[in-house]
Amino acid sequence: MKTTVSVIKADIGSVSGHCVAHPELMDICDEVLNEALESNILSDYYISRCGDDIDLIMTHHNGEENEEVHKTAYDAFMKATERARELKLYGAGQDLLSDTFSGNIKGMGPGVAEMEFKERPSDPVLVFCCDKTEPGAFNLPVFRMFADPFNTAGLVIDPSLHDGFKFEVFDVIEHKKVILNCPEEMYDLLALIGSTGRYVIKRVWKKNGEIAASISTERLNLMAGEYVGKDDPACIVRAQSGFPANGECVDPFAFPHMVSGWMRGSHNGPMMPVSEEEANPIRFDGPPRVIGLGFQVSNGELIGPVDLFDDPAFDPTREQAAKIASYIRRHGPFEPHRLPAEEMEYTSLPGVMSKLENRFEDME
Ligand code: 13P
Ligand code: 13P
Ligand code: MG
Ligand code: MG
Ligand code: MG
Repeated sequence: MKTTVSVIKADIGSVSGHCVAHPELMDICDEVLNEALESNILSDYYISRCGDDIDLIMTHHNGEENEEVHKTAYDAFMKATERARELKLYGAGQDLLSDTFSGNIKGMGPGVAEMEFKERPSDPVLVFCCDKTEPGAFNLPVFRMFADPFNTAGLVIDPSLHDGFKFEVFDVIEHKKVILNCPEEMYDLLALIGSTGRYVIKRVWKKNGEIAASISTERLNLMAGEYVGKDDPACIVRAQSGFPANGECVDPFAFPHMVSGWMRGSHNGPMMPVSEEEANPIRFDGPPRVIGLGFQVSNGELIGPVDLFDDPAFDPTREQAAKIASYIRRHGPFEPHRLPAEEMEYTSLPGVMSKLENRFEDME
């Protein structure tokens, strides 16, 4: 029997402003998921949050894009949204674009990362959840896990990884996708995924087709056609025995790389890896955060998690991220701190342009 891991996440309201999902909302999600557990839709679950985003980490035997599993997540978010509205939480129901479920949660606002696999004799599965950034934020760390020999020693020294991996890349603007092989097509892959707002790694497989990683790629702002928050993503990664080791999967996050998001979804800033407890983006609504949760998947059960960034070895990364945050903040409204106009989620530019329309003159 195969096991499916489904991570479905949404921001349905927070305290104060866009900081932190209210614990009562997580309790309501827990009630709904517990009912699904009792009626055997789910075999296990763990609920986490990063900043204002609630991440429902679920295991079951129903495969990907399963209607009952997606409806469970949707019902949890809808029910919690009612409470968020009563508490007048900030951005209550922010990521729910529709109030009626239509069979599949994709395209309705929440982010989805799923993978189905036959459990190995021992199957470590890691889940990474972000706030104040976008799906392309995973491009660099996921590339490094599965394709960079300076990150992943196993690519060089472990015969079971030596063949490399296949990457599926979505063009989220044109709605197209392409599969590229690494190491053979590494430069082509990098040519695409360096454009993090457009080309997003969706899945990684071993060359034999076994699933290795899955990332939520929904771009809410593109779906809704207007600003409804950044699409804070989640990512599932399998580790060990033919995949990168646990430590090879977390090491890319020791570099606080620049991602877009942060204040008003309109700024670049460093990604700070933190424990679940410290996933509270406060300074200038950030800087962007990532948490990591390490499980063993065992007959559909989630054993764990280990809070992967609750390790003093990541303290220097956090310090460096805080220093980079101070440095780039001093640019105020200037690029490259502020995103280029076409990537901003808030803009006054059309209004400013129409006000100044008659004052623009042709240059000699
Ligand atoms: P242990 O010897 O602690 O099992 O570690 C093995 C390993 O490969 C760590 O990356
Ligand atoms: P979220 O996408 O996390 O809700 O953040 C929105 C925002 O505007 C933060 O300043
Ligand atoms: Mg929010
Ligand atoms: Mg968020
Ligand atoms: Mg959001």
